[in-house]
Amino acid sequence: MDCQDQNQIQDYWNDFFKEKDLKNIDFDDIDFTFPPPEEEPYRQYYFIAVCRKWVKQFERENGRPPKACVVNMGCQMNARDSEKLRGILKSIGYEEQDSEEHADFVLYNTCTVRENANNKVYGRLGYLQGYKKKNPHMVIVLCGCMMQEEKTVSKIRQSYRFVDLIFGTHNIFKFAELIAQTLKERRMIVDIWEDAQQIVEQLPNERQYPFKSGVNIMFGCNNFCSYCIVPYVRGRERSRKPDEIIREIKDFVADGVIEVMLLGQNVNSYGKSLEEPMTFAQLLSQIDQIDGLERIRFMTSHPKDLSDDLIKVMGRSRKICRHLHLPLQSGSSRLLKIMNRHYTKEHYLGLVDKIRAAVPDIALTTDIIVGFPGETEEDFEDTMDVIRSVRFDSAFTFIYSRRTGTPAASMENQVPEDVIKKRFDRLLREVQTIAAEKAEALTGRTMDVLVESINRQDGGLVTGRLSNNSVVHLPGDESLIGRIVKVHLDTCKGFYYYGSRVY
Ligand code: 5AD
Ligand code: SF4
Repeated sequence: MDCQDQNQIQDYWNDFFKEKDLKNIDFDDIDFTFPPPEEEPYRQYYFIAVCRKWVKQFERENGRPPKACVVNMGCQMNARDSEKLRGILKSIGYEEQDSEEHADFVLYNTCTVRENANNKVYGRLGYLQGYKKKNPHMVIVLCGCMMQEEKTVSKIRQSYRFVDLIFGTHNIFKFAELIAQTLKERRMIVDIWEDAQQIVEQLPNERQYPFKSGVNIMFGCNNFCSYCIVPYVRGRERSRKPDEIIREIKDFVADGVIEVMLLGQNVNSYGKSLEEPMTFAQLLSQIDQIDGLERIRFMTSHPKDLSDDLIKVMGRSRKICRHLHLPLQSGSSRLLKIMNRHYTKEHYLGLVDKIRAAVPDIALTTDIIVGFPGETEEDFEDTMDVIRSVRFDSAFTFIYSRRTGTPAASMENQVPEDVIKKRFDRLLREVQTIAAEKAEALTGRTMDVLVESINRQDGGLVTGRLSNNSVVHLPGDESLIGRIVKVHLDTCKGFYYYGSRVY
């Protein structure tokens, strides 16, 4: 291809996408005699158009559009990625389907933070194989953190040969292009990148809730806590530009969103890798000023990076929710050091005092790992001590899971299973008792609830959340969904409430 051709191609695509609202592209207008554009996200819009042709043919042959089922198996980050993947599938013309069994396209967005997440994937794949035998056109796709591990991919290549496409966390923006390749070649396509090369903005997106959304502010993690696989599968920390984040939130607000959850593995170190560095506290202050936005949440915070500025911004803001998730992992300063967490028990307790002084009604939640290698009874008692003195509103408790490739996996003094189990049960009991007491203390108060859905068990009730993230059920109907209403908390049932509206 000579230079003139190249220029002609470039001109065609520049012209096609110029000043176009990417949400309203006329895909039928594309001239497919031109090769795909090189630049992102335009390249992916080209491949969406390619896949749309395939979908039209499917519709002609089957009298219905193909159905896609996306299953997210991990954290909020994973759920947010799934929304983007669903957005692309919808632009292509797939109809959403809840159950894998009746889908023509099944995608598992996997997690690998603990071993049991991995086992779940293999179990579900085995089950799906039977359905693929009945429907050979079924396309099975795997993506997410687990796919960044070499041993997983080679196991799937060997024992799960009916999988059609595997990709990882760094090239998720290429989804449309990978589907086009899969549909064309009909062989197992594997595309895993070692690092992220760029952050691609403005791809399609399909929010799970019309009124709230996750917003990625950064990707990856630099902390290398010694038990954790995340830095290996999500790569180094990369922050999105503040203008891109603000633009996305303003777009969401214009589209009916009133609550955002800012997402990152360690939001407190936001902005360090930007060309013009800025802090998370500065970003929050800017987001706080967006008109029409009512609630701001964020996760996850690392205690070592939680700044006084952030605490100040939280104390001043009317929109930042009264909830902070601050993973402790262990209360033993000795273990925290081996975990590579860079704080001590005393530092953590000091942070809690500071936060409570600035934001008295804040709910504090945490993550705890039981049975990290070398954990003694004394270490565990330190954790119990922090639990009793902080009195968390809720805590996620995890049994330590050995992740190949992490420093902790090769530590020799792994704790026996029966010892872990007993400690875990003790911890859980303490956590639950305290959480129930804390929740009970709010009974009788009137508070704002953002109504999220119709109650699953009782269609006469709706379910929503307080600013502090607690769940409340109250009489109501669909018209309340997406609204913030005043609710009297009538009774507390351990970790949720029954309430009634106050006018
Ligand atoms: N074993 C158990 N729990 C883990 N987590 C991360 N890695 C492991 C592991 N290897 C927990 C941490 C983290 C949460 C998301 O998952 O508590 O905060
Ligand atoms: Fe894992 Fe630690 Fe990074 Fe959290 S901060 S993702 S626990 S390495």
